[in-house]
Amino acid sequence: MDNGASYSGAVDSAGTVLTYRGRRGRLSALTRSRVDVVLPLYAVPEGPVNAEHVFGRRAPLVLEIGCGHGAAAIGFCVAHPDHDLVAVDVHLPGLARAAAAAADAAVRNLRLHSGDAVPLLERLPSGSLAAVHLFFPDPWPKAKHEKRRFVAADRLSLLLDRLRPDGALLVATDAPDYAGYLRRQASVVGARVVLSPRPAWRPLAGFELRAVEAGRRCIDLTVSRCG
Ligand SMILES: C[S@@+](CC[C@H](N)C(=O)[O-])C[C@H]1O[C@@H](n2cnc3c(N)ncnc32)[C@H](O)[C@@H]1O
Repeated sequence: MDNGASYSGAVDSAGTVLTYRGRRGRLSALTRSRVDVVLPLYAVPEGPVNAEHVFGRRAPLVLEIGCGHGAAAIGFCVAHPDHDLVAVDVHLPGLARAAAAAADAAVRNLRLHSGDAVPLLERLPSGSLAAVHLFFPDPWPKAKHEKRRFVAADRLSLLLDRLRPDGALLVATDAPDYAGYLRRQASVVGARVVLSPRPAWRPLAGFELRAVEAGRRCIDLTVSRCG
């Protein structure tokens, strides 16, 4: 079994630009057992996503893209028991850790999806999300890789379509030019970007912790539709 992201190049077999670099390698025995035993408990059924069916209740739905080890997803779910959250990542070992942490915390309002967030967004109905969380997305700092940033206009447009009219995309980043790039892409798709406070429910962990320890400035931004 390899570790999840199955392409090593910049595009998939259909020529779609990817936002991640494929990583190959064998899973440890612990990760494999989490993938086989724990992760399925949090699975999103295949096909169009019907949140009421997935969670067994009607509640505001949030999507976290690139959840890593799941610290922010679990922090949100514990702080917001009246919301449901689907967290997605292409990196299977991280997702396996997230599943184990969710089980330890007895979190019930969380589902975990292994794979690319774009096809998952396509499976969600238009206007179905109360919020999307994108915390410390891969920065792709070289100009020639800009199109691989998750907030490139085509993906941003899909994401905004899946948000409710009052919904918002929360982005956190430590990449120096990410805010400027996000503002330019947002203007292309008719959205506005404002600086926002760091959410108190997000634990200082993962890439944010690394950035803080390295002395890099982190910012939080909220993206919403204009008008
Ligand atoms: C820099 S890491 C940040 C992880 C975590 N949010 C944190 O703050 O520690 C970016 C994550 O996004 C994931 N990722 C990148 N593109 C993705 C995509 N299209 N769909 C799902 N996950 C993606 C990567 O696998 C990686 O785990």
